[in-house]
Amino acid sequence: MKAIKYSKPVSYDQQFLHILADFKNWVYQESRFEIHSNDDPGFSLNDTQSGGLPELSVIHQKVKTCQKCPLGQSRNKAVFADGNPNSPIMLIGEAPGSEEDRLGLPFVGNAGKLLDKMLHSIDLNREKVYICNVLKCRPPGNRNPNDQEIENCSPYLEQQIQMVNPKIIMTLGNFATQFILKVETGISRLRGKTYQLDGRIILPTYHPSALLHNNQLKRPAWNDLKLLKSLILKLKLDNNTY
Ligand code: URA
Repeated sequence: MKAIKYSKPVSYDQQFLHILADFKNWVYQESRFEIHSNDDPGFSLNDTQSGGLPELSVIHQKVKTCQKCPLGQSRNKAVFADGNPNSPIMLIGEAPGSEEDRLGLPFVGNAGKLLDKMLHSIDLNREKVYICNVLKCRPPGNRNPNDQEIENCSPYLEQQIQMVNPKIIMTLGNFATQFILKVETGISRLRGKTYQLDGRIILPTYHPSALLHNNQLKRPAWNDLKLLKSLILKLKLDNNTY
């Protein structure tokens, strides 16, 4: 998918039409072709994403050696975060999968490749957002996180939110959304709207894995991305100075 460059005289509506066309093309491609998990993820894979913010690196160290629950024994690598800790935009997923557990970075498997495309469609990338998960260790067999694991692990996420201090949090899927909003309502009913919480805007959307399994969700997910883009423009967060 080609990068979209904006030029001044083009209105935001026109920009969105371009993005929509690009996204439609991508949806079409996605529904026709498999994504292969052994493709090079193409991201920086070092351990020190949180460099520059010592407090985050302290939390990162704690996460790496955490043994608060049995996932500490079964994990290969704990997954702390990727992206820009100075970004005003945070994305929160559920828990690492097998690729994330192997590489120690969030969203580097098939769902992650899709997430990268989604970000790209609104002129974002991993350098412009901060990405993390509710759980830092992989639940075996990719099962859902349980309540005890969420309770043990979520203080790390809460600290990350405090330190990164994002203006917008996009929650990906049920677990992240329900944890952040402290509700039990399903993502289908929560998405498509924004919520104000502690001076931040919360914007729930479907988890990229759900989009990989259900094409019908791609259109509403695109609407959520447009909403994110409009907030970025409205709050003037697109100036790249972070
Ligand atoms: N799914 C998630 O929720 N997080 C990841 O990091 C990868 C897949």
